[in-house]
Amino acid sequence: MQIVKVFVTRRIPEKGLELLRREFAVEIWQGDMPPTPEELRKGSAGAAGILSLLTDKINAAVMDSAGSGLKVISNYAVGYDNIDIAEATRRGIAVGNTPGVLTEATADHTFALLMAAARRVVEGDRQVRAGGWNTWEPMGLLGADIHGATLGLVGFGRIGQAMAKRATGFGMKVLYHDPMYKGKETMPDNSVDTNLDKLLAESDFISIHVPLTEQTRRMFNQTVFDQMKTGAILVNTSRGGVVDQDALYHSLKSGKLAAAGIDVTDPEPLPNDSSLLTLENLVITPHIASASRKTRDRMAEMAAENLLAGIKGKRLPNLVNTEIYAK
Ligand code: DGY
Repeated sequence: MQIVKVFVTRRIPEKGLELLRREFAVEIWQGDMPPTPEELRKGSAGAAGILSLLTDKINAAVMDSAGSGLKVISNYAVGYDNIDIAEATRRGIAVGNTPGVLTEATADHTFALLMAAARRVVEGDRQVRAGGWNTWEPMGLLGADIHGATLGLVGFGRIGQAMAKRATGFGMKVLYHDPMYKGKETMPDNSVDTNLDKLLAESDFISIHVPLTEQTRRMFNQTVFDQMKTGAILVNTSRGGVVDQDALYHSLKSGKLAAAGIDVTDPEPLPNDSSLLTLENLVITPHIASASRKTRDRMAEMAAENLLAGIKGKRLPNLVNTEIYAK
């Protein structure tokens, strides 16, 4: 029997690995840190499938190294900006991702960041630990109201819509902007489709839910921050590259923005000497929006299912480059 190799670029939950081990020779990168480009190329050599993470740049060199037997690249993420999709498509390699399963966990974390930034949760925690809780203060750590505020959602796909549902419970008004969103009949009652200028001018909170593409790279620049309400709060759990971080720093420092909550940066990890880390009004987490146990288990299964289908020559349950079938 022919041995089919798959390369998994980091240890992922066992639920996914089990599925793969039943059928393939599974090679797993054992480091806690991602493989270097060279290690990635070496590990991929001779693989029929690569199960990659968003930290791995899967480019032509990696595909070359895998060789002509490479059938499928399955990303353990919904985003796939780490993969050269055009190159994979040109070579007829199927690319899969894990949409849907992480929608609710990501929206939960996005809301947690929104609330933490608005109500200065992390600053309060730091103050207490530093022995700074001296008394009840009439004017201490005043924050922004969430209930009744306006939430602007830039991008109204699955996660944007899950945010709108959560906002309903807080009596928030929702403005959304997404030229791609067509499902207006299923739109939550509190949500209004609007243009970006109006959304920026009227929102108390703005949450970003667009993928990173050439069109969205650095979309949130100084001009955009200047269009926002003074005292607005920005939340980003999409991709760091969508935000111009220098502009974010200046807008937070000057008080144009009251606060921000971010789970993603560019680069990741954010260097320890980043000026952003000097700001009290920034809440930051290390790209963990999908990091609930159930979600990560299900992501592992979905990524494995994509890999299995691709190697068997079947259509992936979650296929990114549908064009490969149009050829
Ligand atoms: C994704 O899936 O794209 C998230 O950023 C990580 O879960």
